[in-house]
Amino acid sequence: MTDFIDKLRAIVGERGLITDPQGMHSYLTDWRENYLGTALAVVRPASTEEVAAVVKLCLAEKVAIVPQGGNTGMMGGGTPLEAGREIVLSLGRMNRILEVDAIGYTMTVEAGVVLKTIQETAAEHDRLFPLSLAAEGSCTIGGNLATNAGGVQVLHYGNARQLVLGLEVVTPQGEIWNGLRALKKDNTGYDLRDLHLGAEGTLGIITRAVLKLWPKPKDTATSWIAVSSPEAAVALLSGAYAASEDNVTSCELMSRQGIDLVLKHIPGSTDPLAQSHQWYVLLEWASTRARRAGANETALAEKMEAYLGEALDKGLVLDAALAQNEAQARALWALRENHSEAQKREGPSIKHDISVSVSKIPAFMTEGLAAMTKVLPQCRPVPFGHVGDGNLHFNCQAPPGWDKPRFMAYAEPISTAVYDLVVRHGGSISAEHGIGQLKVDELAHYRSQVELDTMRTIKRALDPANLMNPGKIIRL
Ligand code: FAD
Ligand code: MLT
Ligand code: ZN
Repeated sequence: MTDFIDKLRAIVGERGLITDPQGMHSYLTDWRENYLGTALAVVRPASTEEVAAVVKLCLAEKVAIVPQGGNTGMMGGGTPLEAGREIVLSLGRMNRILEVDAIGYTMTVEAGVVLKTIQETAAEHDRLFPLSLAAEGSCTIGGNLATNAGGVQVLHYGNARQLVLGLEVVTPQGEIWNGLRALKKDNTGYDLRDLHLGAEGTLGIITRAVLKLWPKPKDTATSWIAVSSPEAAVALLSGAYAASEDNVTSCELMSRQGIDLVLKHIPGSTDPLAQSHQWYVLLEWASTRARRAGANETALAEKMEAYLGEALDKGLVLDAALAQNEAQARALWALRENHSEAQKREGPSIKHDISVSVSKIPAFMTEGLAAMTKVLPQCRPVPFGHVGDGNLHFNCQAPPGWDKPRFMAYAEPISTAVYDLVVRHGGSISAEHGIGQLKVDELAHYRSQVELDTMRTIKRALDPANLMNPGKIIRL
């Protein structure tokens, strides 16, 4: 094994190699600390050529590779297996913005660029890269593409798959596939790019990408809205499309349980409304039309206020606070974005990242809450999520005082109850977080034989040695 490590060192240099247990530790566990894996080394190449050389070496030595970006994934996809003969290949040093084409609305980046850096770079060029999620300060674009990440603006701009034009990928054979094409039209046979989006590093390593950019919004309105029920939230959203002239960019649903956890665990959080309510919506509209010169309020804010006034009269809205400036909007967003962190600080949780069609959310919510509490009456449901695109984080917190092993004994029956219901409603058991190692059995159970066989055929054809993130998504 010293020989293998020496060969790795010869490719990536001393700076690109971590072998001591302390230095490796954070790469061997996931954000939720559900998994702790082992690895022969953490390898941090500085270029596509180095990635390719590492892959060729691993193929020759039959060592498996776990690609890793910001390690914020929720499914353990970037964590090596417990007893695997694997390396972690971290893209963190490949973090250059290679080109911004403001005229053509594209940006070419290396896979290890942190999402926030991409957003900021786009903004400096008066452009928008719309992928937005709470982990944006540490997740990388390579990880976002490999998981086909969603986030809070999917209803308007689409998920990661819709935000990318071209990819460069190192194949399981260590070849470099240059698909870095900035083309909106390209009908040239099977779409190799799409194969890698959402593949969670099981088919190759994304090393570069050409991303799409949009015009930067010039006018934004953000409101924190108390609603009587998920049904009211969905009705509010439905009317908002026309009222905003198709400018709805986010619609997030939260429950009182989630807000209470954020207020408890995130210093500086305050409840925007005087009274406590059971359900909340964070609604954002954004337009590329500039604010009216000299006007006190933005054009969108005026429209939103009028719309919420009507909704109040109809009983859809119980109370609302419209952000008066950017700082207030950021504070409202922090209440939403800190849900995951607050859940983590509160203790063990079981997460279900599911989707159903938007109009089925109210029925799913009622039936899902009943199903979850039927299995464990003391569990504390914390449902929230991207209601605008039908994606709920149908999460559930351990009863107070319960430790992880005690609570996790209920994980399987609770999740089965939830996923069975999702399937009955025609939904998906993974909306945006992927499969990783956490949902391998669920995917095998809920997807049809023909889909699983097709996935296995693709995996075997592209990675016959099964060295690309083995044990993730599907078992061969
Ligand atoms: P990692 O965690 O490092 O890896 C994720 C997967 O991608 C692994 O399977 C890994 O092997 C593979 N991978 C990573 N880089 C590459 C590469 N270059 N080539 C090939 N495979 C690769 N996700 C959402 O979709 N929406 C949300 O709203 C959201 N909110 C979140 C909030 C918090 C607080 C946290 C902690 C996470 C959240 N996530 C969300 C999950 C996570 O941020 C995303 O899945 C993100 O896309 C992962 O990016 P990463 O760089 O951290 O990838
Ligand atoms: C989010 O949208 O905040 C995360 O994807 C949800 C989660 O942590 O379950
Ligand atoms: Zn989410």
